[in-house]
Amino acid sequence: MDFSGQKVVVSGATRGIGRAIALAFVEAGATVIGTYGGDREAARQLEQEALPFEGRLRVQRCDVAEPRQVEELFQKIEAEHDTIDVLVNNAGIRRDAVAAMMAVEDWQRVLDVNLSGTFYMSKQAILLMLKQKYGRIVHITSPMAHMGFAGQANYAASKAGQIGMMRSLAKEVAKRKITVNCVSPGFIDTDLIADLTEELRRDYKNMVPAKRFGSPGEVAAAVLFLASRNASYINGAVLEVTGGL
Ligand code: NAI
Repeated sequence: MDFSGQKVVVSGATRGIGRAIALAFVEAGATVIGTYGGDREAARQLEQEALPFEGRLRVQRCDVAEPRQVEELFQKIEAEHDTIDVLVNNAGIRRDAVAAMMAVEDWQRVLDVNLSGTFYMSKQAILLMLKQKYGRIVHITSPMAHMGFAGQANYAASKAGQIGMMRSLAKEVAKRKITVNCVSPGFIDTDLIADLTEELRRDYKNMVPAKRFGSPGEVAAAVLFLASRNASYINGAVLEVTGGL
């Protein structure tokens, strides 16, 4: 897929799935603005890795849960690039606990980052995309949105919310040749699930018909397809990358 000349924003680009997505876009010729929450060391490493790509990958700190920071990020992007072609809402966190034991702060933070963050970024991206009457927005959701999982009321609600939001946004912007879709990865080997015990990893792998976890690159391939010009008639859809889960 060729993204030469396209400008792409990926949130949470310094680790795991977001990192694979950012690098895949750069390798396909795009200029990428990758954001991260707070891990400066991971940001520095990604910048090092992007050196061969002639400055086509910039790493920018921006907490997606802070609407002011998101606005400032997009003001900067507009001043430098005028508009963008693709936004990938990948930034996400987990703060698991059964509901009876879940701190209100953990409920709120997960909703703030995963759901409100997706909205703040999408709103600003749409404002820029409307100028050129073209755009692709992809949210990274999760099968937990429809399956649910004990200990993940906050996470599952945030991921289900992303899907409802995506369907509404898709209807709002379709006439302007902007599409909004979701990619729903199953178990993907990243830091997000690094806290699982060996026993749980074995059990979860057994639940997956493919009998293995996916890789960040396998998710990136699906994102690039939905973000390509070829996917022009796919709007309001959820593409599952789950090994058949
Ligand atoms: P990760 O923990 O490896 O990376 C998360 C990224 O989000 C990091 O770059 C971090 O800097 C960024 N981030 C966190 N809070 C932020 C904030 N407030 N503002 C800006 N950036 C922030 O996680 P992973 O596994 O790469 O997950 C990426 C996305 O994929 C998340 O939305 C996650 O919910 C989703 N997902 C992951 C699955 C998995 O099995 N790993 C399965 C299904 C969905």
